[in-house]
Amino acid sequence: MTSPILTLSLLSALTVTSSALLCTQCLSENSTSCSGPSVSCPPGYECGSSHTKTNVGEFETNSVARVCALPSECNFTGIIGIPLGKSRIAASCCNADNCVPAIPEFPEINNTLNGLVCRYCVTVDSDWCYTSETVQCTGKEDRCLLQRIKQGGLKNALRGCSTKSVCDLGGQTKTDGRSTTEVKFICTDAGISVHKVVLTPAIVSLLLMKIFS
Ligand SMILES: *[C@@H]1O[C@H](CO)[C@@H](O)[C@H](O)[C@H]1NC(C)=O
Ligand SMILES: *[C@@H]1O[C@H](CO)[C@@H](O)[C@H](O)[C@H]1NC(C)=O
Ligand SMILES: *[C@@H]1O[C@H](CO)[C@@H](O)[C@H](O)[C@H]1NC(C)=O
Repeated sequence: MTSPILTLSLLSALTVTSSALLCTQCLSENSTSCSGPSVSCPPGYECGSSHTKTNVGEFETNSVARVCALPSECNFTGIIGIPLGKSRIAASCCNADNCVPAIPEFPEINNTLNGLVCRYCVTVDSDWCYTSETVQCTGKEDRCLLQRIKQGGLKNALRGCSTKSVCDLGGQTKTDGRSTTEVKFICTDAGISVHKVVLTPAIVSLLLMKIFS
C-alpha cells in the first residue's frame, strides 16, 4: 500500500554517493516523527522532512518521511483534495548531521469552491482509474490530478484535485534493491464542465482511508 507520503519521500535520491552530510532516513505513516538509519547524503543535499496531514471527515492522520533533500525541495507545500477530505503536504529541512527539521507550516484548508471540477477515483487494482464520480476543487487546487503508483507488484491510482505544486513533482522511480517504485503525477487544468456534473455521494471506505493517509 502506498500513500502520498511515500510518494513524496521519493522526491529525494536515497543513493549514497559520497561522505557528506549525515541524515536520518525513515518513514512513519502514523506520526509526526520517525527514527531510522543515518545515511550519507550526496553533496549539496540537506536533511529533509516531508510531513503529510490528512483530514478525512473527523479523522486526522499525520505521516512523515525523512530523507536527503535538495534545498529546492525544502519549501514544498501542496494539497490533494478528494470528496471526503484533504491531504496537505509540507516540507522542511535543516543542515547539520542528523538534525531534525522543524515541523513545517501546512497550507490552510480553504473550503471555498473555485469552480474547477475533477474526476475522483481511487483503486488498488491498477495504476489507472476512471469513474464518473467527481470532486469540486477548493482554494488553490487548480489542477486535476492523476496519481499513478507501481510498487513491486502493487499498483494504485487516485484522481482528485491538487495544487500545481503536486503536478510539478512529475514522476520518480526509485529502486531500493528489493523492489522498484514508480510514481507519476499527471495533471490537467481542464476540469469537467460544471454543467455536466452529477454529484454522486462519496462512499466512505476503509480502503480509501488506508490509501489516502
Ligand atoms: C497509530 O499509532 C498508534 C500508536 O502508536 C497505534 O495504536 C495505531 O494503531 C496506529 N494507527 C494506524 C492507522 O496505524
Ligand atoms: C524557503 O523559504 C524561506 C522563507 O520564506 C526562505 O528564507 C528560503 O530561502 C527558502 N528556501 C528555498 C530553497 O527556496
Ligand atoms: C479561498 O479560495 C477562494 C477560491 O479559490 C479564493 O477566492 C479565496 O481568496 C481564498 N481565501 C483565502 C483566505 O485564501
